[in-house]
Amino acid sequence: SDIPVITIDGPTASGKGTLADEIAHKLGYAVLDSGALYRAAGLAASRAGIDLDDGKEVAAVARALDLRFAQGRVYLAGEDISDALRLETSGQNASRVAAHPPVRRALNQLQLDFRRAPGLVADGRDMGTDVFPDAGLKVFLTASAATRAERRHKQLIAKGISANIESLRADLEARDARDKNRSASPLHPAQDALMLDNSAQTIEESVELVLDWWARRR
Ligand code: C5P
Repeated sequence: SDIPVITIDGPTASGKGTLADEIAHKLGYAVLDSGALYRAAGLAASRAGIDLDDGKEVAAVARALDLRFAQGRVYLAGEDISDALRLETSGQNASRVAAHPPVRRALNQLQLDFRRAPGLVADGRDMGTDVFPDAGLKVFLTASAATRAERRHKQLIAKGISANIESLRADLEARDARDKNRSASPLHPAQDALMLDNSAQTIEESVELVLDWWARRR
């Protein structure tokens, strides 16, 4: 396909979603939050009472997912599940179902369908390595675990949800470890990815840098 794609992969809470949204907005591109698909598959499977470690069963649920994305919200069979998807249990469940190859295969075509003119910004774990290997720009976004835990903490506090930094950090490190060590599409930078550590950067600085990289590629 000659429709341009920018991929942003990286560990949990590195700021991929915010960066992807900003870049897509600046360029007038569509955005794919691939994590939301895994989160939705995990949610639908757990609601159906399916064992999340049963790859075949979860894949059947993933193939039948009735998902719709509109105005930054996610709908499952018409129900707005956006808030449920943001819970850390949804992230942990997503990471469990994402380890099964048949679940990944079930969600891959859905992800490819997001590639529409004039372009796409896709964020996740394997956007640059597996789903869009021909992307014109691949960013691997990182930040220290301490920084990521702090940002997560701030987000939760802002929403009026109390949280403990140490346990947030333990959760995100556990999820990263599972995502890196699985055999199906483990989290790792594509060999042609540009590395961006945003620990000491504002979101505006990261946006400028990525837009600059993109301008140089075009
Ligand atoms: O990015 P987010 O935190 O929403 O992703 C939730 C989980 O979904 C990740 O921890 C990962 O296990 C899985 N995921 C994945 N591949 C992607 C996006 C997310 O395996 N492209």
